[in-house]
Amino acid sequence: MNNLNKDNKSFSSAISQWYLTSGRNNLPWREKISPYRVWISEIMLQQTQVKTVIPFFKKFIGKYPNLKSICDATEDDILALWSGLGFYRRAKNIFKAKEIIKNKYNNCFPKKFDELLLLPGIGRSTAGAIMSIAYGESYPILDANVKRVISRFNDIDVKDKGAIKSLWLLSKTYTPSKNIFEYTQGIMDLGATICHLRVPSCSNCPLNTSCKSSFKEFEVIKNDKKQKLNKKINFMLAHSNQSFLLFKKNKKSFWESLWIPYERQNRERSDFFKRPLRSETKNFNHALSHIDLNITLEIFEYKKPFKIKTNLEHKWVKKDELNKFGLPKPIKSIIENYV
Ligand code: ADE
Repeated sequence: MNNLNKDNKSFSSAISQWYLTSGRNNLPWREKISPYRVWISEIMLQQTQVKTVIPFFKKFIGKYPNLKSICDATEDDILALWSGLGFYRRAKNIFKAKEIIKNKYNNCFPKKFDELLLLPGIGRSTAGAIMSIAYGESYPILDANVKRVISRFNDIDVKDKGAIKSLWLLSKTYTPSKNIFEYTQGIMDLGATICHLRVPSCSNCPLNTSCKSSFKEFEVIKNDKKQKLNKKINFMLAHSNQSFLLFKKNKKSFWESLWIPYERQNRERSDFFKRPLRSETKNFNHALSHIDLNITLEIFEYKKPFKIKTNLEHKWVKKDELNKFGLPKPIKSIIENYV
């Protein structure tokens, strides 16, 4: 990997200056900067696009504006606010991390990079983002957008052996000691708004005179789609008078810790659901990132809620209290629209 673009000063100052005129300075997590707000936003922005995150971030911060306010929140409280955002492990990690912050750091957000790295859900890039955005300290980041900018700038194929290590080294070299806030936000924005995956907008890029890939045509990369798993699920949902019988999923797989209808195992005859007044069956598909679900949902109506004997954690949840619980998006929307 000879011949790298190592003129770090002009790289970083071009990006910082570009951010001031062309960056997305109206994103909600770029106001009232605090380590807590940066942390919540960076976790939400892992694997999720900015436009999807914005309403979830606003709702979350509306309820929990700071560490003090989230201090006593339960895992369910946090999952409820995450409902619909997906990748729910992130919400569980926020719960675990805030417990650590409360018990080990006296509810003060840790200030050291190595302390951040030990918190659940925080890897090297997220820790770097918190250090640079919240504390103004010079730490590199390497999320998907930054990877694209730096690899193109140096014409590195990210699939090559050792490429990620080289990209981290370059990211470190480019990261300035001044204007770290503008630089970090700027390189993220440049990747998202100019250095697009398919058709980059090189004529508007502040790096276009020195970038080794500028004005190059990129093949339309066909996602070498990994074969997704298909899974059939049979749900049984009892309801009565606008209340629904939900179970907290305790299996370590997708939707762990969310509230879902009873999941009938193969050929199991569940005795919970006897003699309904009425029943109907709905069939639908729902795509997760790694599994395509084919869901059969049997809905049973009863005159009144009933008790069941089981070790499974369960509750009759009133329709107008659904927002207090974390439910997967498709289940929540079926119940919300159920009359
Ligand atoms: N992606 C990850 N972190 C981000 C941030 N702070 N702003 C915009 N996009 C991001």
